[in-house]
Formats: sequence, C-alpha cells, structure tokens
Amino acid sequence: MKGIVLAGGRATRLSPASRATSKQLMHVYDKPLIYYPISTLLHARINEILVISTPEQLPLFEELLGDGSAWGCRFSYAAQPEPNGIAAAFLIGEDFIGDDSVALILGDNIFYGVGLGEQLQRYTEPEGAVVFGLWVPDPERYGVLELDADGTVIAVLEKPVVAPSNYMIPGLYFYDNSVVEVARTTAPSARGEVEISEVNNRYLREGGLQVSKLPFSTEWFDVGTFDALLDAQQWVAGHQRRKGLLVGSPETAAHREGFIDAEQLRFLAAATDHGDDLAKSGYGDHLLRFLEFEAGGE
Ligand code: TTP
Repeated sequence: MKGIVLAGGRATRLSPASRATSKQLMHVYDKPLIYYPISTLLHARINEILVISTPEQLPLFEELLGDGSAWGCRFSYAAQPEPNGIAAAFLIGEDFIGDDSVALILGDNIFYGVGLGEQLQRYTEPEGAVVFGLWVPDPERYGVLELDADGTVIAVLEKPVVAPSNYMIPGLYFYDNSVVEVARTTAPSARGEVEISEVNNRYLREGGLQVSKLPFSTEWFDVGTFDALLDAQQWVAGHQRRKGLLVGSPETAAHREGFIDAEQLRFLAAATDHGDDLAKSGYGDHLLRFLEFEAGGE
C-alpha cells in the first residue's frame, strides 16, 4: 500500500500565523506538524509516500523531508494548485498510486494510541474502502457515521445538523485501487471540492465501505485552529515529559517498523548535516533513549 499526506490548503483559520508558511510546517511542540501524519503511515508499515501541498510551499516540504531515504522511505512530491478537495489527492496522485492500494492522511491530523499501528496494518490490502470511527462529543463538526445496531455503516453524513451517532471519521482513509476512478467520476460539491464523504458514500452504495472503530483511548487532534494547535502542543509536551519518549517521531516509527536499523537511528541522532542540531535541541537524546527503551524488551 502507498500513502499520501495531503498538506495543502489555505489555513485561513490560522491567519496571520499561516500567511507566510504552511500549517503543516508549524511545530507541534518539538517537531513540524507533518511529522505526525508521516509517523502514523510508518506505523501502518507504509513507507512509499507522496506529499501534496501548494506549488508555493511544496519546495519547503522537499527541503524538510528530502527523498525519505534517511528514514528508510521513498518520498515524492506533487502540487495542488487550488484547494479543490481532499479527494482530489487521488487524481493528483494517480501516477504515484499506479496499480496499488492507497492510504490518505490529512497533514494536520495527529493520531496516537497503543496498538494503533497494528490496527492500521490489518487494512493495508483493503477490498473497497476502510474508514475509522472515533467517538467524540461533538460529531456534527465532522463527517459522521450512521450505524445500525450491529455497527454496520448505513450512511456517511458531512457536518449534519443532527448527528445520527457520536462516531466521526478522522482524516485517515484506506482504499483499494478503484479510488482513482471513483474520485474521477465524483462531481465537485457546491463549494467546488471533490468531497471525501462523497467518495466514501460511493463505496458504501457499492457495498465496499468498512468501518474500524478506534479505541476510545485514542488521542486524535485536528490541528486547524489556534486552540487546537495549543491543545496538541500541550498534550505532546506533557506526554513526552511524563513518558520520556517521542510522540509522532518518524525516526522512531521507522525503526520500530523495521525501515531503519539501530545503527541508522543512532546515526540520525548524531548527524551533523545541519550543524549537529538534533544533539543541541535534545531531540537526538530522545532518539537514543528509544533504543534503550526497546532494549528493555518493549
Ligand atoms: P481544512 O482544515 O479543511 O482546510 P485548511 O487547512 O485550508 O484550513 P482552513 O479551513 O483554516 O482554511 O483541510 C484539512 C487538511 O486537508 C489540511 O491539512 C489541508 C488539507 N487540504 C488540502 O491539502 N487540499 C484541499 O483541497 C483541502 C480541502 C484540504
């Protein structure tokens, strides 16, 4: 399965902080926001990743992330000239996807949960589409699942006035190869976007939409507003301080999933390409601590 990180958009709700930069390059405590969705894909054992952003901001992502080889990955890049919808990613990424299945993650979504990687790995060869359901107190702000008594999905509703359940669909979706064709033949909505909810409803109508509920303990942040950014920062900072390990680190995720070995992780911790920056910031020490943690048998 291949992965796409969608990191374009206008980020109007973060203006003026977003005027001269991308939301997904802003830092969430100690690392750029885009590190978090990348680490989620790596925990799903996906390491061929296409990053989509605006033509202006794409070079900044390339400078930050490179070709991915340092993390045992293959990164490529494509521009989305206008924010014409989340599902437009499948058309921009058509050549990248080729004959494979594909996972799409929004560049401003942070996921964290024990066992999340294993749960995601179960769906990397999907028949049809797989979305995840997360219980939230305010589902009407999102795409919401209507479920029957057995938990089978009946409908996907985009920002309904009255939500039929508390299960919203966070920004991580797995599809078989037919998603390219489904996206191509989905008409843009009144707001001019190829809507991901519409793509999911198309799969539902054709009997190919599965739902996997995330455990209630899953941490999930949609970092779209100042307060959401601050909440995410504080949660990451607190968690890392208490537990002593990084959240959302592509380096440790790549090591855990077998894309780089201990030697390569040690090299990253001490690399001097950027003037020994990781050693100076303390991030490098965190990477080394992960090796000690793993040596403890976790
Ligand atoms: P949104 O938060 O809906 O949009 P935005 O990031 O432009 O922010 P705002 O509402 O403040 O203007 O987008 C969710 C994620 O999807 C975010 O990471 C940006 C990305 N996105 C694209 O890259 N292209 C698109 O066409 C859309 C709709 C979203």
